[in-house]
Amino acid sequence: MTEKLENPRLILFPQTAEVNAKDHLVIGGCDTVALAEEFGTPLYVFDEVDLRARCREYKTEFGKRYPKTTISYSPKAFTTSAMLKLVEEEGLDLDIVTGGELGIARAVGFPMERVHFPDNNKSAEELKLAVKYNIGHIVVDNLPELDMLIKIAGRKKVRILLRLNPGVDPHTHKYNSTGIVDSKFGLTRTTWDEAVATALAASNLDVDGFHFHIGSGLFEVEPYLSAIDAVLEYAAEMKKKHGFEMRTLSIGGGIGVQYTVDTAPPPVAYFAEAIINNIKDQCRRLKLTPPKLIVEPGRKIVAKAGMALYTVGVIKEIPGIRTYVSVDGGMSDNIRQPMYGDWARQEAIIADRVSARNTDKVTISGKLCESGDILIKEIMLPALKAGDILAMAGSGAYAVPMQSNYNSMLRPAIVFVKDGKARLIRRRETLDDLTRRDVI
Ligand code: LLP
Repeated sequence: MTEKLENPRLILFPQTAEVNAKDHLVIGGCDTVALAEEFGTPLYVFDEVDLRARCREYKTEFGKRYPKTTISYSPKAFTTSAMLKLVEEEGLDLDIVTGGELGIARAVGFPMERVHFPDNNKSAEELKLAVKYNIGHIVVDNLPELDMLIKIAGRKKVRILLRLNPGVDPHTHKYNSTGIVDSKFGLTRTTWDEAVATALAASNLDVDGFHFHIGSGLFEVEPYLSAIDAVLEYAAEMKKKHGFEMRTLSIGGGIGVQYTVDTAPPPVAYFAEAIINNIKDQCRRLKLTPPKLIVEPGRKIVAKAGMALYTVGVIKEIPGIRTYVSVDGGMSDNIRQPMYGDWARQEAIIADRVSARNTDKVTISGKLCESGDILIKEIMLPALKAGDILAMAGSGAYAVPMQSNYNSMLRPAIVFVKDGKARLIRRRETLDDLTRRDVI
């Protein structure tokens, strides 16, 4: 192996990233150019060591400061059977949002008592399943859901958290701001009292505590602290009013990751330190028994561990305007740039010439029939040629789960790499998959 980190963008790749004597990008001991050849492109590659390290980082950084912490992975960031299995092995819980995710959790044998279920519009069927399987918590989002659950629970005792909307701006993309007042998520402040009174009066509900999730991709800890202040103050009020002791507090997910060389959020340890100190201080001040804590990371566990490999095709230079470098994937396998714009900037390197100098300003476009089909709006890269393999960093979160068959694209294969071996965890779609559900 030659010296690592010659290309500064290597820090955006998983922790096992290195460069071999051929100047190829190597992940988990596997040459990514060889992976592209073996499995075809587009290909999503996840570093298993990095995935497990991120799970352990969360457990350690929160656990050592506050042993009563449960880390509950949000599979919406990356849902595959192999990933859920890995999460189960690492001892994390699961924070599902649909009956679909519940079904996958069941299929891989995930212990149901370690599953928690927020969502703003759960169907009766979803609630019935959650009740039937005795999942860890149903996170009740609104008053109609509360009424529906009381009816569905029947004679069973169902453990719930109430999702409070704390009215806090997380300073992230507006699509990912979920704890502001103008949001479809969570109980509005004016309904908190009614929700608590109704839930406490229902003999078939065990009200375990409160939940909030203020947003995703946060670089600042202050919004968490404000939300914790609001919810703990309220918990103290409810203790006085109803003698109700909050036993569990979930603070959602949301910690941001580094997608570009020039923007690095603070590490998990920084968030853990400030959050835990605040919970301890506020509980002391408000004379509350410190609750069990649930943290629900998605992005931070998987974003950096995953990359996408594409093959470069047509290069179109429009003199004085722009050079489009089109690859064999696009918005059908990663819609984040078209959906969130500059907020969702990602960077890439040429996997077959990692150390080459960046000389050309280009736009990385996909192959779909839409001008908005852009993966990277502008990036400096070495002079490219058709057949080059482009490795796009930070593709592990919210790319795979938001994929589509737009333009009848076949969704890519996914491999886990570790110790020089690649394991196919989802095969590439075939033409048969495209027509499987059709009826003539
Ligand atoms: N808990 C709840 C209730 C959530 O709604 C979410 C994310 C999480 C936890 C996990 O948040 P994370 O740690 O991943 O930030 N599609 C967007 C992200 C949407 C996030 C939705 N909720 C993107 O591509 O950036």
